Amino acid sequence: MTPTLSSLGKDLVGLEDLSAAQIRTILDTAEPFKEISERRIKKVPVLRGKTIVNLFLEPSTRTRISFEFAEKRLSADTVNLTAEGSSVVKGETLVDTARNLEAMRIDMVVIRHGASGAARFLADRIPSNVVNAGDGAHEHPTQGLLDILTIRDHLGGVAGRRVCIVGDILHSRVARSNIFGLLKLGAEVAVCGPLTLLPLGIDALGVRVFRRVEDAIEWADVLNVLRLQLERMTAGFVPSLREYNRFYGISSRRLARAGKELLILHPGPMNRGVEIDSDVADSPYSVILGQVTNGVAVRMAVLYLLAGGAPEAAEAAKRRGVG
Ligand code: CP
Repeated sequence: MTPTLSSLGKDLVGLEDLSAAQIRTILDTAEPFKEISERRIKKVPVLRGKTIVNLFLEPSTRTRISFEFAEKRLSADTVNLTAEGSSVVKGETLVDTARNLEAMRIDMVVIRHGASGAARFLADRIPSNVVNAGDGAHEHPTQGLLDILTIRDHLGGVAGRRVCIVGDILHSRVARSNIFGLLKLGAEVAVCGPLTLLPLGIDALGVRVFRRVEDAIEWADVLNVLRLQLERMTAGFVPSLREYNRFYGISSRRLARAGKELLILHPGPMNRGVEIDSDVADSPYSVILGQVTNGVAVRMAVLYLLAGGAPEAAEAAKRRGVG
């Protein structure tokens, strides 16, 4: 099916591709959609008649469920496909899988894939809208957007704010999307982690690099704490999880030493006691569950805009609800 022209273009592959104005449009469009999830009947008819396939070829809890809620709350018809339950296990290629889905007249594909570049590869080969739900170590644009929306909610804006991303930057698509999005909106961005988990030349992206987490905490207004991606580590990147926690773990003791309040984000899933201690994850400064709540509104905004919805009509679309 030929997608409608949208203010974002045909696809959302990464925040690297978007302008600051396009990122602001998504965040502003998410605002009226937040309220729909608070209603008794959580549904508006703006994507009625659209068919969306969630093609998750890598595990996911938050992103997959969040996209599905977003689609259902906009009244789209949705189908979920995972690697285990599909002919991918019989050797069918990504493009053949997508073309067969298109033969059944779909409108959008939300894809998670273990290979960096898979979302762009697919977007260039099928006419349906493609939304990247995380591809390898490349990008996770809706996670970046929901992180930025959460910072904006709590600090009133992101321009001039100091955000440090702590942990496994090397394997992190979340780090890359945050870096591109935050820099475009005028934030100062830093990364912190052991040398083995920092990509070579990361500073060329325009970020500061901290080796000591104490220095990062001293500098930052916001810490976005990343999971150690043990499943992507093919070599001994850290001597042990215990040692990682000792040098880089975010603990209340470390935060207390800085003598200031920091906003604590984590994209999930968390390794409690490794990159973040429970007393921080469950503290009043943690906005981790707020990120998850914002994820639904951000994904509603992305789907609505890609389907050709006008940003200024999102408020009116919200009022067309049935609740
Ligand atoms: N943040 C995130 O991508 O979580 P999932 O892997 O559970 O989707």
